[in-house]
Amino acid sequence: MNAHYLSEKPSKFALDLINYLKTNNNLLEIGFGNGTDLLFFENQGFNVKGIDLSEEFVIKAKSKGLGVIQSSAESLPYLENTFDIIYSKNVLHFTDLNKSIKEIFRVLKPNGLAYLVLILQTKSKNNKIIFELDVEPYLKNKKVIKKKEFIKIDEEGTNNKHTHKLLFCILEK
Ligand SMILES: C[S@@+](CC[C@H](N)C(=O)[O-])C[C@H]1O[C@@H](n2cnc3c(N)ncnc32)[C@H](O)[C@@H]1O
Repeated sequence: MNAHYLSEKPSKFALDLINYLKTNNNLLEIGFGNGTDLLFFENQGFNVKGIDLSEEFVIKAKSKGLGVIQSSAESLPYLENTFDIIYSKNVLHFTDLNKSIKEIFRVLKPNGLAYLVLILQTKSKNNKIIFELDVEPYLKNKKVIKKKEFIKIDEEGTNNKHTHKLLFCILEK
């Protein structure tokens, strides 16, 4: 995992997301990783839950007092219509979108928001496409509140440069 995923500062997406939250909102983060954004949401006074596939990250988040469960995005251990907001950053491209998007919309409350950031394409140092994902089929029939693509370059040492095209979107149930 890249070092920037271990940042102790809330991401710019977490800072933006709080504009959409109201104090009594239930928030679920899918794939919280280091837990920095989840802890930030909790410290802002929201009711937060998190799931991550990694046992190591779950143990670490529990040690920070966060209410987290080891589970997968494809099978969320919650009842339908539970969350006002679901946040997931840099995770969904690892999942089976057929299942994870269905699960997100199952556990979101009516009018709840899915705040998502995911990789659409990765190019290697030689400009060769090494990963590509078409999310459009999954966005069909969804109410799209915001949708923006952006480029992020990961450079870890001179021989390991990756250029990612990411999608940031907010969907409403
Ligand atoms: C690249 S890290 C991103 C972590 C954090 N969201 C961030 O942006 O810093 C991806 C995270 O997703 C988790 N993950 C990968 N596949 C998953 C799945 N199918 N269900 C739940 N979590 C998953 C990994 O364990 C890891 O914590």
